[in-house]
Amino acid sequence: MKQTVLVAMSNQKGGVGKSSVTILLASYLHYVKRKNVAVVDCDTLQHSVSHMRKRDMQTVEKTDEYKQLMMVQWEKVEKKAYTVVDSTPAEARSKISELLEASPDLDIILVDLPGSLSSEGVFKTIINMDYVLTPIVPDRIVMQSTMSFATAVLDYLKGKPDIPLKDFLFFWNKVDKRASTEVYDTYRKIMERLNLKVLKTVLPESRRFDKELSMKGKPFFRSTLFPPPQKLLKGSFIPELVEELCETIKL
Ligand SMILES: Nc1ncnc2c1ncn2[C@@H]1O[C@H](COP(=O)(O)OP(=O)(O)O)[C@@H](O)[C@H]1O
Ligand SMILES: [Mg+2]
Repeated sequence: MKQTVLVAMSNQKGGVGKSSVTILLASYLHYVKRKNVAVVDCDTLQHSVSHMRKRDMQTVEKTDEYKQLMMVQWEKVEKKAYTVVDSTPAEARSKISELLEASPDLDIILVDLPGSLSSEGVFKTIINMDYVLTPIVPDRIVMQSTMSFATAVLDYLKGKPDIPLKDFLFFWNKVDKRASTEVYDTYRKIMERLNLKVLKTVLPESRRFDKELSMKGKPFFRSTLFPPPQKLLKGSFIPELVEELCETIKL
């Protein structure tokens, strides 16, 4: 049987890019890399991913240009859009089991977690994943709690080989290319010392991350039905992030 890799997107802070990057990774992996993807949206307060899927469907339904694009994509990738299911953190495990029963050939399931770690079931969901992917921004207080949470969980795993979680993978998001690298260098040293793994790929701060499908037909970047168009992929570092991730988690 195929091994499906389970990856949760987690960070206590809102607005660091958990949901946007979940969507971008899912779409790139599913429509460009042709992996079989599913998303479990556990952010009970916002449900950003499943809301986006609903908006995307409505917009495509009303726009001939996107309908056509959908046909072209269908001919190219020959598969349906990936499944997005709503859940709570506590129910995530059973939703994942249902997904796997219905589609045993899934390569990866991405789980978008809520900001609050205290919400019921978050800890249990996290340790039952294969990896936790954490977008980070250089905010001292958030970094401190993010790092101490990861260190505590990794300590907890020691001597418990039956727990699925293998590692936390951090990556910098919203990086202002013009800003000083000093703060990043300082964190790099601290995280190295704590044995926390930071991916090499850095996602830049870029307006394109906000661009959705629209009836006005403006360029879009983030969609659950399409991968980002080639023109906007360049310089977004999404393909680089996907390649590094695939290599790291052996996908
Ligand atoms: N690299 C980026 N550059 C610019 N804006 C970004 C970037 N990543 C995310 N954003 C924006 O930041 C906001 C919050 O992102 P979101 O994914 O909802 O965060 P979270 O799920 O962690 O709360 C959104 O408006 C999103 O488009
Ligand atoms: Mg979110």
